Amino acid sequence: MAAKFLVFCGLVSLASATIKLQEIFSWNVVDWNYPDQFSKQQALRTGALIPENALPVGIERWRNKLFVSVPRWRSGIPATLNYIPLDAPYEPSPKLTPYPSFEGNELGNCQTGLTTVYRVKADQCDRLWVLDVGTYGYDNVTNVCPYTLNVFDLNTDQIIRKYVLRPEDIVSTTFIANIALDIGTSCEDTFAYFSDELGYGLIAYSWEQNKSWRFSHSYFMPDPLVGDFNIAGLNFQWGAEGIFGITASPIGADGYRTLYFSPLSSHTEFSVSTRILRDETKVKGSYKDFSVVGVRGPDGHTTAKVMDDSGVQLFNLIDQNAVGCWRSSLPYKPQNIGIADKDDVGLVFPVDVKIDDEKNVWVMSDRMAVFLEAELDYSDINFRVYTAPLDTLIQGTVCEAPLPVLQAQQILKPLQPIKALSRAKLYNHGLGVTATPFSEAVAVYTPGSTKSGLTGSYRQPIIKNTAPKVQNYIYIPKQTSSAYTSGQFTRPKSTNKNPWWNKATNYNYEVFEP
Ligand SMILES: *[C@@H]1O[C@H](CO)[C@@H](O)[C@H](O)[C@H]1NC(C)=O
Ligand SMILES: *[C@@H]1O[C@H](CO)[C@@H](O)[C@H](O)[C@H]1NC(C)=O
Repeated sequence: MAAKFLVFCGLVSLASATIKLQEIFSWNVVDWNYPDQFSKQQALRTGALIPENALPVGIERWRNKLFVSVPRWRSGIPATLNYIPLDAPYEPSPKLTPYPSFEGNELGNCQTGLTTVYRVKADQCDRLWVLDVGTYGYDNVTNVCPYTLNVFDLNTDQIIRKYVLRPEDIVSTTFIANIALDIGTSCEDTFAYFSDELGYGLIAYSWEQNKSWRFSHSYFMPDPLVGDFNIAGLNFQWGAEGIFGITASPIGADGYRTLYFSPLSSHTEFSVSTRILRDETKVKGSYKDFSVVGVRGPDGHTTAKVMDDSGVQLFNLIDQNAVGCWRSSLPYKPQNIGIADKDDVGLVFPVDVKIDDEKNVWVMSDRMAVFLEAELDYSDINFRVYTAPLDTLIQGTVCEAPLPVLQAQQILKPLQPIKALSRAKLYNHGLGVTATPFSEAVAVYTPGSTKSGLTGSYRQPIIKNTAPKVQNYIYIPKQTSSAYTSGQFTRPKSTNKNPWWNKATNYNYEVFEP
């Protein structure tokens, strides 16, 4: 079915800038740091660097580094794994620095290079988990290296583990973009899980055993009824997209985490205990151990999710240009799904959502649907990174901690003004702060400072210890009157047979011997 351009002429869309998320970096086009001007000019001349071909798709923050991954879908991507130093002088559009180096990102070097990386995950043991999917191209994908897990020691920037997925872990259509971690009683006791979007599988890897196995389940498959997408004024079908976003819960009473997952072409959330996933023998006979958690409701497509230690899950809502939230103590149903923030210009395709060790949320948006289905306009801002403290982000939503929890927290530390303000605002429609049901919370709020209190709290340092320049950056929200739609519409390259990131129709799979 041909995609059609939805014309919004005559419609006044109500679009607003993000309220709680602060835009910290933005780019029209992504560029790279080179050791000197000469090597950069040479890279541009030889086509080793073609900035317009770069689409960042993943982020992760660890201390003073913000990692950014860029798949090699097209030529001219000098490094697939990169970072932005957060302690460097602040620049609104920083150039990417390859991680660990340009050499460590050599295309097709299966021993010491990285070819294509999607999402990466840092852990509390200072390891960075990176799956190199080994592919080059998008319309014409070639598997130049096998699927290989690379784990870096973030303190030494050395690869401390390299593991090639077994041929049994993958099928001819395998496409893996997401990774979730499950740390048990020690750093040794760690499992990584990988979702196979187009092969409809879930692969478990044990760090201790240095071994992997693969689960199959019908819950990994797409819902055929919700394969139609409308993003940035483009209509297209991603109906073949199965299990995509995955994240592990905090450790439960039984000593195990719960892995939450959802197919991309789906509005449903599923789960399975890591007690099952950690046990290789459960690959068979565990059908009934997988559960339906609930449904998000219409426009509930998501590709990235993350859960913090208090059990709040954040996820991208790609149809809604929004970040959604869910408090896992509540039943998973549309009424309990909150919109943490939304922006019909800046959050068009919120591609990745992460929470760091200091409970800051990081969101990247990249207009991916336009990059893939039409063409990006490089005179416009296409890529953005936002951040906000988790508590701020979920304030005033159904995901906010229930009052007894807030009161318990107050015994330990006074409620921050921002929280009081938010509640006062919410229950008094901004008209005043007295007579709210949350008198406890209001007690710490100073009446009369409504506006400055709000602004001031948004100016709170959001990156502690590491980024003085970033701390000083004050975000002034830009109000926009109309939603972003792709103005650069060209004949779409996609059909309903084309999966999301690559195209199964042209997929030439080769099995690599390690
Ligand atoms: C696909 O890629 C291969 C090698 O990378 C190349 O030989 C072939 O010509 C390409 N096909 C098309 C249609 O671009
Ligand atoms: C883990 O397994 C891989 C096989 O993919 C092997 O090359 C590597 O040496 C193993 N590492 C350890 C620490 O056992």
